[in-house]
Amino acid sequence: MKKTILVVGATGMLGTPVARQLHTDGYEVRVLARSPEKARAKLGDSFVYYKGDVEDPSSLESAVDGCFGVHINLRGGPKAEDFDRIEYGGTANIAKVSASKGVQRITYLSGAATFEENAWFPMVRAKLRSEKAIRESGIPYTIFCATHIMESLSLAVRGKRATVIGKQPHRLHWLAANDYAKMVSKAFQLPEAANKRLFLYGPEAFTMAEAINTYCSIVHPDVKVSSVPIWLLSLVGKVSFNPELQLVADLMHFFEKVGEGGDPSEASSLLGAPTTTLEQWCRQQRNIA
Ligand SMILES: NC(=O)c1ccc[n+]([C@@H]2O[C@H](COP(=O)([O-])OP(=O)(O)OC[C@H]3O[C@@H](n4cnc5c(N)ncnc54)[C@H](OP(=O)(O)O)[C@@H]3O)[C@@H](O)[C@H]2O)c1
Repeated sequence: MKKTILVVGATGMLGTPVARQLHTDGYEVRVLARSPEKARAKLGDSFVYYKGDVEDPSSLESAVDGCFGVHINLRGGPKAEDFDRIEYGGTANIAKVSASKGVQRITYLSGAATFEENAWFPMVRAKLRSEKAIRESGIPYTIFCATHIMESLSLAVRGKRATVIGKQPHRLHWLAANDYAKMVSKAFQLPEAANKRLFLYGPEAFTMAEAINTYCSIVHPDVKVSSVPIWLLSLVGKVSFNPELQLVADLMHFFEKVGEGGDPSEASSLLGAPTTTLEQWCRQQRNIA
């Protein structure tokens, strides 16, 4: 009989590839969504849809019931307090309901900069609290501390312009979402991946400016890449009362200060090292476009 896995946040940029990979690998995949109709329109008929909101634990019960595993892909924000409410509160609710329903594996997307010394940043604080709630649930877990995902490069492009925000000095091992999704699915298949906190890095390191320039030169050759200081973006966010813009400025401030942490060798030997290079991924995107 097929094992069933619930994906929370399957409509998200990093939840969709995981749901698809789990389906490809033979799992029955449930999708929890606030709007199952919108989720079905986006993801198609390969999944079983459940209506639910992670902020309401009672709405999670039927989706979790009978599952072997649960994968959590949540994003808080844009306001600082939303990280705790959505990402931490939601994860804690899922962990509690999962424990009561006998779920055997819970997986969660954290980040490669999720360390106590970075807890001054609300997103990191919420991720640390989420990880703790998962560990304390007693369910065997795999936590993925994934670095920057190649798919997020598209967010730098607006119309005919792409923007590098701030100096961004760190070299980052950009990871393709499909490689990440294969690692998540493999973790559900391996008992040895239980109770691990794994760092996931792609094969090559580039600064944000290098990655955006490569992405634009291959996928959007007509787009002009320029840079903007963080303080200017932050100011525009404040005077236009635009919390999303303010969040981007805060995130870029965080990324400028903090690079990757952790060692990816355990993840790579257990789950298979990611192989997609930035150039290969860009060529795939150009062919899709
Ligand atoms: N981008 C990167 O490079 C990177 C790297 C490492 C880690 N991460 C982490 O990856 C995580 C996910 O990112 P993403 O880009 O996939 O986010 P996203 O596209 O915004 O997706 C978030 C998902 O959460 C769901 N959701 C939000 N509130 C919910 C609620 N109350 N109840 C049920 N579902 C809810 C959304 O569903 P709806 O369809 O209902 O909106 C959506 O499916 C973030 O925590 C981020 O920090 C990102």
